[in-house]
Formats: sequence, C-alpha cells, structure tokens
Amino acid sequence: MNRIMERYKERTPTSQKLYEEAKEYLPVGVGSTFRYFEPYPFFVERAEAGKIVDADGNEYVDLCMNYGAQLAGHAHPEVNKAIDKQKELGTLYTKPHKLSAKLAKELVKRFPVDKVRFTNSGTETTMHAVRLARGFTEKEKIIKVEGSYHGVHDTVLVEKGDDGKTRPKYKGVSRSASSDTLIASFNDLDSFKALFESYKNEIAGVLIEPVLMNRGCVLPEDNFLHKLLDLCHANDALLLLDEVKTGVKLAWGGACEYYDLEPDIVCLAKSIGGGLSIGAFGARDEIMKEIRLKDGVAHAGTYNANPLVVRAALATLRKVLTGDAYDEVFGLNERLIEGYEKIIDKYNLGAYITSVGECGAIYFTSHPIKNDRDFDRYVDDEVKELAKKFFLGMLNEGVIPHPVGWGTEPWTLSVQHTEEDIDKCIQAFDAVAPKLQEA
Ligand SMILES: Cc1ncc(COP(=O)(O)O)c(C=O)c1O
Repeated sequence: MNRIMERYKERTPTSQKLYEEAKEYLPVGVGSTFRYFEPYPFFVERAEAGKIVDADGNEYVDLCMNYGAQLAGHAHPEVNKAIDKQKELGTLYTKPHKLSAKLAKELVKRFPVDKVRFTNSGTETTMHAVRLARGFTEKEKIIKVEGSYHGVHDTVLVEKGDDGKTRPKYKGVSRSASSDTLIASFNDLDSFKALFESYKNEIAGVLIEPVLMNRGCVLPEDNFLHKLLDLCHANDALLLLDEVKTGVKLAWGGACEYYDLEPDIVCLAKSIGGGLSIGAFGARDEIMKEIRLKDGVAHAGTYNANPLVVRAALATLRKVLTGDAYDEVFGLNERLIEGYEKIIDKYNLGAYITSVGECGAIYFTSHPIKNDRDFDRYVDDEVKELAKKFFLGMLNEGVIPHPVGWGTEPWTLSVQHTEEDIDKCIQAFDAVAPKLQEA
C-alpha cells in the first residue's frame, strides 16, 4: 500500500497544496464529506466527455461520473448549448415558464407517473416523496433498507442499533424524526412482512433503491421488487422507488422499465439533469393531488424548476439520452466487464463483478452479496483494504475506477465514453492487479 500511496502523492503535489489551503476554510477540506479520501483527494481542473483532468494535469478516465449522476458525460455539447442559450435569457425566474411542463412531459413519457414536481437534488426528492406518502396515506412510518442511501434528511440518516431498533446514524439527526423509520433487509421479503405485522396500519410506505447501489451493485433477486409492491398494497402502503441513481440509466425508462415495475412514487435526480442539479418526484394523479393550494402536502422552493437546469435537463433527455444511446453504452460496459473478468482470472484475485446497464462493481471477495448483512460480513477490513489499493492504484494509472468509498459504490459509464477509454481501464487493472497482494 505504501508504494501505491507514495506514487499517488508524487503525482498530485498541487492537489496536496490545494487541499492544505482548503482545510483552512472548509471542514475536511471538501464541499461534501464523501469527497475526502486518504491521503487527500485530488482537485479537479476540468472535465470533458469521459475524462477528468486534475490540478497537476493528470488525465483520468472517469468511471465515477459524479456518483452516477452523469450518464450524459461531462460537458456534453448539447447540454452546454442549452446552458449558453438560457444564460442569455436569465437563470432564475421564480415564476412559471413554458419549459417546466415540457420537461415534466418527458418524464411522464418515460416513467409510470401522471404528474411530477421538481426539486434540486436527490435528498430533496426523497424527502418530498416521503412527505407525500405520509400525506396520502395519513400514516407516519417509513421502511427503508439497511445500508441503502437516500440523501441527508433525518428520516433516512438512520441505522439499526444492536437492539434491532432504529437510531440516528450521525450526530445531529433528530431521534424523534428518525424513530418513524423502520429498517428491513434488501432481498428479504420476510423482514418487510415482519415490520408490516408489528406496525399494523402505521406504515405509509417503503423507500427503496431498485438496485442496492450503496453496497456495490446488489441486484434484486427472485422478483423481490414486485413481491414488495404487492406487500405494500396489501397493507395500504406505498412503494417509493428511489431511482436517483437508476432513473434514465438502467433503461430509457429507468428501473421501472428495466424491471417492468409500477411503483407508487418515483424519485429522480442525478442523470436527468445532464450534470446540473435537478431532481423530480412523480406519481399517479390521485397521489400527486395531495400537492394543492389548501390543506395539502407542502412542496416549494426558490430554485425548483429554474429555467437553467430545466433547459439543460430537456436537452439531456431529448437530445442525449435518446433510445439508441443506451445500446452503445451497455455494449461498452460489457467490454469493460469482459476485460476486468479476464484480469481477475489471470491473477487469480478471487474477486467477482456484478453489473446492470452501464454500472457495475467489483467485490474483492468470492462470497455472494445479497444485502447489507452479507456486505458487512464479507466486505471486511481485508477486502476494504484491497478495494482501497485498487482505487488508488487505478488513480495512479489514470482511471477513476468508481466513486470513493472502498468498494461500496458502482462505477458508471457515460454515453461519451469510448472503446479507447474502456481499453485504458482494462490496461490499468492489468497493471494494478499484481500489486494488490503486495503489502
Ligand atoms: C439512491 C440515492 N438516493 C438519493 C441520493 C441523494 O442525492 P443527492 O446527493 O443529490 O442529494 C443519492 C446520492 O448518491 C442516491 O444514490
């Protein structure tokens, strides 16, 4: 590890300097805590298509793609054109404009919803979706999945304590707000059934990612999502599908299309904006009617549906993430997986890959991971250390292999990646693999 770390430092002296300066003014020296990693994160100078260039001029093939937020790739010319046009017309109106309904219509075409409202992030989206579910069902409790991530509002920043009860996961999270969140396990329908039995008529809904992407790339098995939807409906509760990472990514119509699923509320953000900060939630009419002028569920925001991000999102959906864009990027992902798997075999790494659409994750263990409990058991300190070496080693070879997190997040390809980019990633892994067993 030491050699990998030393090499990283040799390549990034300007980043180190910038980091030391940033620490003076920003806690942890970063704008979002997840961005930090040891010894310090590299600082970005510019990003274009499938690549990022750091402050020392090192170029990386970017498979992080902003934590899965940019299927369009960096600085897509169509998105840039939309930004250029809108900046001349004003970036914020806080008044209605004709583009909002157009964008809403694009999302209604792609997802099984009648109406949508816009937000500015995934956090806001899941927060509003939860409130909408509570308003519609007039019940308060929400079930979330152990180990899933839905942003940084109190309802979802919780974990299961040793006594099996929910507790705040971080300091500052309100115990009373988080006590209305119950925790079940991915791919384990019985864990949901048990909660519905214990809290009869108290559960407003289940908030769930269709693929558990905060634990690598854990796929739903044995029709789990459909069974969960039926279970929710049998208990007059709603299924809130968090498509912040999967929406318009797993397919043109996201995980809803990919799994042929009609959840009650769909949560979107990330890739719908082509790199700008926008989110949206949608549902059928009877649910969305809860958002009304009087006696309804609150939804408001100065920056909601601002014309800059809406125009960029429209360009993303209409001109970039078109139906034919998907086959190409899925093909690139197959090329990457095939190349990586050959290297896993060549060096006998005992690792495996799971994938979906343009995403995938390497687990440096041979144990199958079906949920958070498996993850905690098998992704132990040794496996995390390998993932960390892989991450830094790949950086040294000019590849950002996945987001920071030592193996807890999948990679994302974009429609602007090329076969050359993919081959560079495979060559990088070939160079890094033999070093993984070194101390
Ligand atoms: C599934 C999921 N939901 C919600 C969020 C929160 O989104 P944001 O970071 O835009 O607040 C994320 C972010 O990674 C996510 O992966």
